[in-house]
Amino acid sequence: MHLICPRYKSRRSALSLLIFRYSNIHACAMWYTIHDSAIGLRNRTHKADFVVLCMGRFSGIPNIPTFPAGKGPEVFDGQVIHSMDYAKMGASKAKEMIRGKRVTVVGYLKSALDIAAECAEVNGTAHPCTMVVRTKHWILPDYFAWGFHISKLYLNRFSELLIHKPGEGLLLSILATLLTPLRSVFSKFAESYYSIPMKKHDMVPDHSLFEALAAATIAITPKDHYKRLDEGSIVLKKSKTFSFCKEGVVVEGETSPVKSDVVIFGTGFKGDDKIKNMFTSEYFRNIAVGSESTTVPLYRECIHPKIPQLAVIGYSESIANMYTSDIRAKWLARFLDGGFRLPNVAAMQKDVLEWEKYMKRYSGRYFRRSSILILHTWYNDQLCRDMGCNPRRKKGFFSELFEVYGPGDYANLLSNSKSKEQ
Ligand SMILES: Cc1cc2nc3c(=O)[nH]c(=O)nc-3n(C[C@H](O)[C@H](O)[C@H](O)COP(=O)(O)OP(=O)(O)OC[C@H]3O[C@@H](n4cnc5c(N)ncnc54)[C@H](O)[C@@H]3O)c2cc1C
Ligand SMILES: NC(=O)c1ccc[n+]([C@@H]2O[C@H](COP(=O)([O-])OP(=O)(O)OC[C@H]3O[C@@H](n4cnc5c(N)ncnc54)[C@H](OP(=O)(O)O)[C@@H]3O)[C@@H](O)[C@H]2O)c1
Repeated sequence: MHLICPRYKSRRSALSLLIFRYSNIHACAMWYTIHDSAIGLRNRTHKADFVVLCMGRFSGIPNIPTFPAGKGPEVFDGQVIHSMDYAKMGASKAKEMIRGKRVTVVGYLKSALDIAAECAEVNGTAHPCTMVVRTKHWILPDYFAWGFHISKLYLNRFSELLIHKPGEGLLLSILATLLTPLRSVFSKFAESYYSIPMKKHDMVPDHSLFEALAAATIAITPKDHYKRLDEGSIVLKKSKTFSFCKEGVVVEGETSPVKSDVVIFGTGFKGDDKIKNMFTSEYFRNIAVGSESTTVPLYRECIHPKIPQLAVIGYSESIANMYTSDIRAKWLARFLDGGFRLPNVAAMQKDVLEWEKYMKRYSGRYFRRSSILILHTWYNDQLCRDMGCNPRRKKGFFSELFEVYGPGDYANLLSNSKSKEQ
C-alpha cells in the first residue's frame, strides 16, 4: 500500500506516514508512540503525528472454531490446519500434502471452495473432498444470469436508488421505499438462474442473492464446482455444528464420522482482533473495533472518530477489496496533504452509525463484515466530495445512471481535482 503525501513529507515535525515492513508494532498508551521490534533489529520507538495501519484483514489471525473439551482437534489422529497455513505452503507442497488423503474442508466461501477445488483436482473421486457447510451461500458459476451481467442489476447508480443509503435525503428515501419491490424482482430474476445447479444438491441459500451481495458473502465458483459435486469428487455435509473424534469429523444427523486424514479450516479471519491487538492501552483496546453488536467504527471506513490520528486501510469488504483500498488510500493521502478537514467527533460518530444502520439492515448477521459492495459508488461519491473531486465520472445521463462503476472510473482522480484549500 503506497500513499503519497507531499505536504506531510515536507514537514519537519515528524515522520508522519509510516510504511511498516517486517515489524511488530504496538501503539502504547498514547497512540503516537510505536514500538518497532523489527526482525534482526533492536527495538526502537518512533514518534509519529499520524499512523496508518495497512496490516491486511485476511491474514495473520485465523478464525479457529472452538469445541467443548474432548471434542476438538486434540482427539483427532490426523492433521488440522487453517487455510492460511495451506496458502503459506505454496502450490506444490500443498498438493503433495493432500495427495491421496481424505481431506475435509470446513466452510463454504472463497478459501474453502478454492481448497476443495484443489483437492478434487488432485484426488478426483478416489478420495473425495468433504466440505462441512454451516450456511448455504450463493456460489455463482459466473456473473451472467440468463445471459445478463448481474453487475447491471446491483452495481450501478440505478441499483443504488433501490436501497436506503446512509445520509440520504427525504426524496431518495421515498424513492428507495417505492422501488423496493423492483429490488426483489431483480433478485428473483437472478436467483431463478443461479439456483438451478444448487437445487440438485439442496444448496439454495435461505437468504436472498441481494442480501449475499450486500454482505459480500457471494463467491464465483472455482472451475467446474457444480460438475465436481455431480461426479462426487466434492461431497457436501450440511451441518450447523461439528466436532472431532479419533477418525475424523462428526457432523449433525450422521452416526458415523466423516473419516479424514487432514481437516482444513476455511473459516476466515479475525481482522478486527488484529487492529485491537495494536493497542496496549485498555481504553483504546476497548473502543478500537466496537463490540459484537456494532460495526468496526471507522469514519469513511478508515478513521476511528475517537482516534483521529490513526487510519486503517483495508478493513471493509467489497466486490474487489483492492479497488476499495485504492480509492481510500487516495482519500487519506489528500487528507494528510491538507486537502480537507475531518468533521468533529460527533459528526463522524453520526456518520458511522448511519453506515452501521445500513449494514445491519441489508447484511443481516454478517454486518460486521463491513461490506460496502452494493453501495460502493455512493461511498466513492462521499470520498470524491471530501477530496474536492467530481463524483460523476461518466459521460451523459444514461451512462451515469446505468453503467457500472469500477476502478477505471477513478484513475487519475487526484490529478484533475481541486484542493479545498486552494
Ligand atoms: C487466499 C486469499 C485470496 C484473496 N484474493 C483476493 C482477490 O482476488 N481480490 C481482492 O481484492 N482481494 C483478495 N483477497 C483479500 C486480500 O486480503 C486483500 O484484497 C489484499 O491482500 C489486501 O491487501 P492489504 O495490503 O490490505 O493486506 P495484506 O495483503 O494482507 O498485507 C498486509 C501486510 O501487513 C503486514 N503486517 C501485518 N501485521 C503487521 C504488524 N503488526 N506490523 C507490521 N506489519 C504487519 C503483513 O505482513 C503484510 O505484509 C484475498 C485474500 C485471501 C486470504
Ligand atoms: N479467490 C479469491 O478471490 C479469494 C480466495 C480466498 C479468500 N478471499 C478473500 O478473503 C476473505 C476471507 O475469505 P474466507 O473464505 O477465508 O473467509 P470467510 O469469507 O469469512 O468465510 C468463512 C467460511 O467459514 C465458515 N465458518 C466460519 N466459522 C465456522 C465454524 N465455526 N463452523 C463452521 N463453519 C464456519 C463460514 O460460514 P458462515 O457463513 O456460516 O459464517 C464461511 O462459510 C474474503 O474477503 C475473500 O473474498 C478471496
